[in-house]
Amino acid sequence: MSDIVPPVGYHGIKLVKSFDELVGTAFGGEVNALCWCRELAGDYGEVLEVLAAGEGITTLEDEDLEGLCLSEEGRLAVEVMLGDLRKLREHGLEPVLDCVNGYLRDADPGAVPTDVFSFHVDSATAEADTYLCTYHGPASEGLRNDEAVRRVDVPETRAELLKLYGGDDDEGFREFLSENCFDLHYAMLEGAKPFGFGVGHFWRIAVAYQGCPVPPCIHRAPETVPGDPGRLLLIS
Ligand SMILES: [Fe+2]
Repeated sequence: MSDIVPPVGYHGIKLVKSFDELVGTAFGGEVNALCWCRELAGDYGEVLEVLAAGEGITTLEDEDLEGLCLSEEGRLAVEVMLGDLRKLREHGLEPVLDCVNGYLRDADPGAVPTDVFSFHVDSATAEADTYLCTYHGPASEGLRNDEAVRRVDVPETRAELLKLYGGDDDEGFREFLSENCFDLHYAMLEGAKPFGFGVGHFWRIAVAYQGCPVPPCIHRAPETVPGDPGRLLLIS
């Protein structure tokens, strides 16, 4: 298990001590990410191995986990994951548990890559948050808001996108940026140091929606190398 160490001098992450605190703490001030640090019991690698899911993303149903033939440690891991799913469902959410063996990348990223390997914020049309937990494999990564710039605000990138749009930098252009999700992706400023979300920790991060009291939390999926055991990831 990896401990989460918030970057020194950064106040965007608030550590909490329970699920109730995780769901019940409001974002505000500089805080746009909450982390419930946990040392999880169980063997998640064994679950992955026994699942033997194929390439890409496989969404696991509760029954898929319940039916596995596992050791005591593997069973513990299943109990933890089913418990987390249950807690989120009881909270009115619809979490999914994914086994990830590589994501689809943009074939031709053009001026702005829009896949999950690129730092981005999640967006919603109504109030929402993203919940995340990596149980196994490389963890998601975060980027401080003060170490990031929206790609569409980088002059060269904006110029390129304007060319692609074929019009003026007006309301229509902004709609074009939004429709293509270009405005959700970020570049690292020089010297930026992304931080890891760690394994086992339960995160709730701020999403971009009209009226969100804080800037959305910038994050990305980690690079996965072919031949890696893959990731077990809860997302809501
Ligand atoms: Fe995301």
